[in-house]
Amino acid sequence: MLVLGVETSCDETGLALARDGVLAAEVLASQTDMHAVFGGVVPEIASREHLRMLPILLQQLLGQAGCGAADIDAVAVARGPGLLGSLLVGMSFAKGLALAHRARLIGVNHLHAHLLAPGLEADIRYPALGLLVSGGHTHLYRMGSPTDFQLLGRTLDDAAGEAFDKVAKLLNFPYPGGRYLDELAQGVDPDTKMFPRAYIHNDSLDFSFSGLKTAVAEYLDRRPHLSLPVMPSADALRQTGARALSAHPEELALVCASFNWAVAATLRLKVERALDREKGLKGLVVAGGVAANSLVRQTMTRLALERGLSLHLPGLRLCTDNAAMIAHAGWLALRAGYSHGLDLESIPRGRAVPLDWVRTSPDTVR
Ligand code: KG4
Ligand code: ZN
Repeated sequence: MLVLGVETSCDETGLALARDGVLAAEVLASQTDMHAVFGGVVPEIASREHLRMLPILLQQLLGQAGCGAADIDAVAVARGPGLLGSLLVGMSFAKGLALAHRARLIGVNHLHAHLLAPGLEADIRYPALGLLVSGGHTHLYRMGSPTDFQLLGRTLDDAAGEAFDKVAKLLNFPYPGGRYLDELAQGVDPDTKMFPRAYIHNDSLDFSFSGLKTAVAEYLDRRPHLSLPVMPSADALRQTGARALSAHPEELALVCASFNWAVAATLRLKVERALDREKGLKGLVVAGGVAANSLVRQTMTRLALERGLSLHLPGLRLCTDNAAMIAHAGWLALRAGYSHGLDLESIPRGRAVPLDWVRTSPDTVR
């Protein structure tokens, strides 16, 4: 079965083709540089860019795969959560293609797709504990199967990636700045007393990162020399590296390493707590943009080893938003006998994505 994946939930326009769940071709247009100067994603600009790029990307994708739109058996579309305008552009595009080429339609929960992404590289061992850490979400799930997700905990305020981006903004790095903090923290021993691990003295599986962000903001208020004097472009950062642009690289690196440690140690503590409570888990999945973070990767690798769990940590390209994960998740749902009709709705951030798919006999799936 050839499945086209459509991803437009935020500021990346992605299309991918997966044949029987295996990636066949992929294209991605990032708007990051366009939004960087505004310090965050501007929804109106994001929607317009998706609308402009989708037809161009489809031609590129089909050329790469050496097939035509009529060969597509099903269209999988990221239906949310995300920016509503952006989601609606991808949704209309997906419905138009499905209707024109008599292909099946399947709406994919963007968060679940992140967690299923490592399945493109190796089979996930179920049941698994799934930690999704991205710019908009920090969710902990019990994953019974590719179509069975039980939410165990979530952030009560900021997402882990949001905390990274807000601290980066205070230091005058362009949006999204998580990766620059990671780069600066490399090889530096953290001061584990510098910042608190927030919301851990309870028995909850929920997270809270806004207190940590405030602690860093207060610390930096007293040390204005640590922020870059002028916000550099992403290009400049790519060329020189973040360290070269600071007048106080050692002190800045220690702050970044200590902040990064506080986030990674909090994630570890909650994951351990969930592993103690949930019985029979065989796998640990860590996904989303913050799963690209070096210390988070090291911490989770060590934890999985200690607990004898199979670790599913996607390669860096699969951590951030992409359409391969949407095509793959769509295929898994179709294979389990689910699909959607043309009345499929997009779900904005803040609203739960309903399980409203229609069950069809798996025999009817081409
Ligand atoms: O999953 P994603 O691409 O988009 C959302 O669905 O949110 O995640 C983007 C987030 C941003 O907050 C970005 O700063 C963060 O992932 N991120 C990182 C790293 N790479 C990306 N945070 C820390 N360290 C990194 N290496
Ligand atoms: Zn995402």
